[in-house]
Amino acid sequence: MNLLQTLIGLIAVFSFTLTTALAEPILIRFSHVVAEQTPKGVGANRFKQLVEEKLAGRVKVEVFPNANLYNDDEVFTALLDNDVQLAAPSLSKFSIMTKALQVYDLPFLFDDPSAVEHFQRGEIGQRLLTALDGKGIKGLGYWSNGMRVISANRPLRTPTDLRQLSLRVEPSKVIEAQYRQFGAIPIKLPFTHTRDALRREVIDGQENTWSNIYSQGFQASQTYITETHHSFLGYMVITNKTFWDQLPADVRRELETILGQVTEEVKARATAQARQDRQAIIDEGRVQLIALTDQDRERWRQAMIPVWKSFASQIDPEIIAVARAANARNR
Ligand code: LMR
Repeated sequence: MNLLQTLIGLIAVFSFTLTTALAEPILIRFSHVVAEQTPKGVGANRFKQLVEEKLAGRVKVEVFPNANLYNDDEVFTALLDNDVQLAAPSLSKFSIMTKALQVYDLPFLFDDPSAVEHFQRGEIGQRLLTALDGKGIKGLGYWSNGMRVISANRPLRTPTDLRQLSLRVEPSKVIEAQYRQFGAIPIKLPFTHTRDALRREVIDGQENTWSNIYSQGFQASQTYITETHHSFLGYMVITNKTFWDQLPADVRRELETILGQVTEEVKARATAQARQDRQAIIDEGRVQLIALTDQDRERWRQAMIPVWKSFASQIDPEIIAVARAANARNR
């Protein structure tokens, strides 16, 4: 190698090092709507912490909780515009984008979060992660929160007790149909407007998980919570497909590994937090909890048969069968 070649080599190495050193870190903005102490809130912050440890200087994460940046209905557009790069809307909120995920909202389909987990790990659950690929949104994994209960300003023991009750719901056609079938009045409101609507008595109740209820203080304006556990509230972590595909391969791999770790942590936390927040609400002594016996539950389930039937043409029966089988395998 002559002197000129050595010099060219040195300049190349120097300019590569300089460019790398001066390169701005890749920015990932993660927008969500819940409080930081909920399973999703903790998961988002933990993702930031791990990324900034393991990809220090290469990737920077900014987390925006409490809908400080976007509400769940806006976040799909924000993601497609690459204004945010990560979000984790509830599975029920995907119905404005695709019908493929409606199965998650069928009332009394899944018995508990571990049945859902079993379903999600299976072939169909994994396939559903790609439901928005054609629209430029990539599903990276599922996070969980827990089973929904119903809070209200009157006791709900049987399905007929819901008649004329106005309840805040997420924007899902299945959930809307569920409450119409009960004779209730479903009102679609953003999550962050719910506390105020309950406080001002614009609505009589709402359905949610223990951690969402407790972190928002919904129970302060309610007198009863019925432990229906009628559906699962979980999330799909999503990203802009072009952004993700264009990441340097080693960065993408590391981010996927980190997400895998955080996903497991979120699942474990969700179960513990549901128990803890339920107990905290009991300890406050403000609301009365109503448990359903197996017989009561069966009555609620029967009342939902027309809803299942009305979505029969939209939700693949094979998917429903696999989801139901997840309950049995889980026992
Ligand atoms: C809701 O709107 O009730 C939930 O989807 C909020 C959330 O992200 O858990």
